[in-house]
Amino acid sequence: MRLIFDTWMPILPQFMTASSLDFKRPPGPSGSVALGIDAETLATLRTLRDEYGDIVSLQRPNGRLAYFVNDPDEVRRILVKRHTRYDKGPGFERVKMLLGNGLIVSDGDVWRRSRTMIQPAFSRQKVHDLTDIMVACATALEKRWSAVVEQGGTINITEETSRFALDLILISTFGKDSIAWIESEANNPFAFLSRDSTRDLTVVMKVREVRQLLLQLIADRRARNTEQHYDFMSMYLAALDKSGQGFSDAELLDELITLVVAGFETSANTLNWAWFLLASHPDVEARLIDEATAHLPSAAAVTDERAAAMQFAQQVLEETLRLYPPVWLFTRRAREDDQLAEFDVPPGTDLYLSPYLLHRTGRYWPDPDRFDPDRFAVADKSKKERAFFPFSLGPRRCLGEYFSFLEMKIHLGLLCPRFRMTLVDNGNPGLELGINLRSARDIMLRPSYRD
Ligand code: HEM
Repeated sequence: MRLIFDTWMPILPQFMTASSLDFKRPPGPSGSVALGIDAETLATLRTLRDEYGDIVSLQRPNGRLAYFVNDPDEVRRILVKRHTRYDKGPGFERVKMLLGNGLIVSDGDVWRRSRTMIQPAFSRQKVHDLTDIMVACATALEKRWSAVVEQGGTINITEETSRFALDLILISTFGKDSIAWIESEANNPFAFLSRDSTRDLTVVMKVREVRQLLLQLIADRRARNTEQHYDFMSMYLAALDKSGQGFSDAELLDELITLVVAGFETSANTLNWAWFLLASHPDVEARLIDEATAHLPSAAAVTDERAAAMQFAQQVLEETLRLYPPVWLFTRRAREDDQLAEFDVPPGTDLYLSPYLLHRTGRYWPDPDRFDPDRFAVADKSKKERAFFPFSLGPRRCLGEYFSFLEMKIHLGLLCPRFRMTLVDNGNPGLELGINLRSARDIMLRPSYRD
């Protein structure tokens, strides 16, 4: 744990008045504790939980009060019932440069207006219209992987799942305007996202280029608005708020970039871990293949209904998201007073919520590190309803949840029965804890045909 000072810091944050010092505070360390979004933060939060319990208070080096909340009922209350009392907090500051004030980072009225305008584009019917694109992206992988089998080579599944999810979200968002980008990585202005988007210093330039390019595309699309497009961009362009106003160019730009970023790495990472877990659990893999063969016997036979009805694939994916939730830590900041259990939350308090830690707390998930998709069997929904929140909860819950399950079921449902995958290295790939939870090293698989 990173204790910065041994004594309670004498700095009174601006937002705390003398009277607010009387509030009832959860237990916690007396020194100041640094929190970021990294491996050290995970270790710190785990130690705090083990030492102080499910609601811990601490003071950050900037003097701000923070609570770490690992109680499922309180997490639910914060995200669902009391959501209007909280803003998104410090966790998303690092991505603001990329996302501007798009849906993921915006708060209050700006968020409410955008969410209402965008939500219809994510209805089940609209997502079903994208099924053919999902199938086409999975089929492209099948072709590439077949060539690898013929040559006796290996597959970097971390890169392959990234490519699949990036291509899919680009085509779903920009339709045929994205074809030139996905045909060659060198021409793809978004390719930098599938490498490391947070450490690379050239990222500022890349973001600038992408923003310029999208502004041009927005102008082009507005100019030729009689054309029919069936992609998210056209739905965003047509969206109107209560007063009949559409998005301005600047708003649209932020929302389009947000959509690509939100929709790509989360699904890519989940699929990466799913392949790793399946390759290490042949019994689970066999059950998935049985179901996939029955529901999706060929690419031509895929329908949204058949894919969505793959119950065991749903369980496999949920169990993967329990063990490796891509958004492993998120934050909120109190805009007004609240209460958590018997404790007070003064305005300005930062809250840290970690799906990763809650999903691996033995009280809620016995033998928590074991991969067992049967935990999510339909008959046993109660735990899922309590201590499971990979997509967040409440009104700010992920908009792309249904899209991502459909894309991941089609991906696994078409590819898993076709290729037997063997891990090249049986060791644990380790965790890289950034804004998303990635594998620390790329996962390599050796494919062969099943039949
Ligand atoms: C396995 C896949 C995914 C996971 C685990 C995931 C997780 C999340 C989480 C945890 C949040 C809320 C963060 C917070 O409240 O602080 C979120 C928000 C969001 N996600 Fe996802 N996501 C996934 C896939 C997608 C996809 C595929 C799309 C788009 C196609 C998408 C679009 C969004 C959007 C637009 C928001 C912002 C919602 C709002 O604030 O109103 N996500 N996602």
